[in-house]
Amino acid sequence: MQKTTAVILAAGMGTRMKTKIPKVLHKVGSKALITRVVDSLKVSGVDDIIAVVGYKSELVEALFGNEIKFVKQEELLGSGDALKKAMPQLVSCNTVLVTCGDAPLLSDKTFSELLAVHEKEKASCTFLTSIVPDPFAYGRVVRDESSRVVMITEEKDASEEEKAIKEINVGTYCFNREMLEKYIDEIKINEKKKEFYLTDIVGILREKEEKIETISCEPEDIVGINSRKELAMVNNILNKRTLDKLMDSGVTIVDPGSTFIDESVEVGQDTIIYPCTVIEKDVKIDENCKIGPFARLRPGSQINSEAEIGNYVEICRSVVGERSKVKHHTYLGDTIVGKDVNIGAGTITANYDGKNKHQTIIEDGCFIGIGVSLIAPVKIGKGAKVGAGSVVTKNKNVSAGSTVAGVPAKILETN
Ligand code: UD1
Ligand code: CA
Repeated sequence: MQKTTAVILAAGMGTRMKTKIPKVLHKVGSKALITRVVDSLKVSGVDDIIAVVGYKSELVEALFGNEIKFVKQEELLGSGDALKKAMPQLVSCNTVLVTCGDAPLLSDKTFSELLAVHEKEKASCTFLTSIVPDPFAYGRVVRDESSRVVMITEEKDASEEEKAIKEINVGTYCFNREMLEKYIDEIKINEKKKEFYLTDIVGILREKEEKIETISCEPEDIVGINSRKELAMVNNILNKRTLDKLMDSGVTIVDPGSTFIDESVEVGQDTIIYPCTVIEKDVKIDENCKIGPFARLRPGSQINSEAEIGNYVEICRSVVGERSKVKHHTYLGDTIVGKDVNIGAGTITANYDGKNKHQTIIEDGCFIGIGVSLIAPVKIGKGAKVGAGSVVTKNKNVSAGSTVAGVPAKILETN
């Protein structure tokens, strides 16, 4: 049976990022670059995954359990050297899929297609290329008159003529393992950069008359992140894809340019999301809700149908029940709000006592006036009213149907 091992090259320092943490730990959306690569590879059908790590490798390793293996590259001597370090782990596979830890938009489909073509063509190497308007900084794919690949030339070594080539090397390759073993040691150090370029193996295989195939992919999918600008660009590409998907499914997003929604978020039909709204991971919003403008929904929040979350409202690890309204300048943390509740402007749940987080429960039909502080843990019983400016102190639960007011809130009326 054919066995495929994927190798993620992720030892680089990310010099151009100007960062003190490993480049592959920077996040796009809510996930680290390398997590995205691992997730796509897992779905693509590879049998196992090895990451070559170097700079502050312990931080990268800490992100994963034993779902992937690690190999250390002590000295950063280039992508060719990085793959060499993984070779002893590759003895039992037929195909080696190599990709970069800094290219987070390559999908599982692209990886599986690459594998399929590589196996079908029985090539020694199959790699991804793309035609891009601005090929600067990428390796250029040099071909002969009959369009056969001759070699990959890096920016620093390219002639003016080669620099004009718009077909670039994505940095993702499939190799026949035996071929790789046979020729990887023939890669010589690049004198300009004092690095071993993995890309040189393509020229070596061509000289040996081995079969080389390429697959072309969309320029948007291939971006390798080397700088903060590219990080922001990829964030925007991903966010746009998420918003497009939501709009296609029946959600109104008034201004996609100022709306940021994590890809894990679910939103029901006919919900309207107003401008300048940020919705983080693991948030669920039902149908017919109104969210924003200027709202921030944080992880673990659920907004039930027909609820309204207005301007300058932050909701964290909370549930807002059907038809409830939280419309102005409010913070709800670790809170469960029932149905048909009205929360007045400037209401704050004090969920954190400096050590622990505590829960606030606001039951169905409650009316909370403006500027109220609810100090958790506390429960406001069904249909209760809390007067403007009140401070309900912790454990002083308000019984169902009663009215309280003041600082600290005193009972005015019980049911
Ligand atoms: C590399 C390719 C280039 C391609 C581009 C795509 C080489 C020589 N060039 O260039 O043809 O167009 O990717 O984005 O490979 N790494 C290590 N150890 C090292 C050096 C690098 O593990 O010693 C890893 C990096 O973490 C990174 C990958 O290899 O994930 C590529 O290295 P990078 O320095 O980003 O290469 P590029 O200049 O982007
Ligand atoms: Ca790169």
